[in-house]
Amino acid sequence: MATVAVLVDSRGGHTRKVAEAIADELGVSVGDIKKRPLPDAEILFLGSGTYGHQPGDEMRYLLRDGTFTGRKVALFATAGSRDGEKLVRDMAEMVTKKGAQVLGDPAAPGKAIMVRYRNVHKEDLEAARTWARNIAGK
Ligand SMILES: Cc1cc2nc3c(=O)[nH]c(=O)nc-3n(C[C@H](O)[C@H](O)[C@H](O)COP(=O)(O)O)c2cc1C
Repeated sequence: MATVAVLVDSRGGHTRKVAEAIADELGVSVGDIKKRPLPDAEILFLGSGTYGHQPGDEMRYLLRDGTFTGRKVALFATAGSRDGEKLVRDMAEMVTKKGAQVLGDPAAPGKAIMVRYRNVHKEDLEAARTWARNIAGK
């Protein structure tokens, strides 16, 4: 299996729950999104909540300032609507422009989870685990 790192920008905790499930599935801990340089893992899992159609501030800084040339990236998001799908597409576009390879389905380049009844549900976390396992080749 590839080495992985998981970084998340989560204000309210939903996306962190997803990040923790992914990290647990892949046998790592969620890293510190503010730390530079970025982790030296083969695959970077990057996740954010959706705030006014944008990633959170720390994720925006990371996408803006990070070096992505030749890096493999897997993206995930939570949102109150289908905006999460757009968010992962926007994030994919940004890192692709900076030379990253976005893993997963090009038509839906990441895992977007819609928060229902103000919660991330067990089946969503299971789906995130399965997605992450497939991405990491585990
Ligand atoms: C300030 C703010 C702005 C939001 N904007 C959007 C939005 O534009 N589209 C959407 O689908 N959900 C939006 N939401 C809902 C969040 O994306 C959703 O609750 C998400 O799970 C938050 O992730 P977090 O708990 O990890 O912070 C917004 C929530 C907040 C607090």
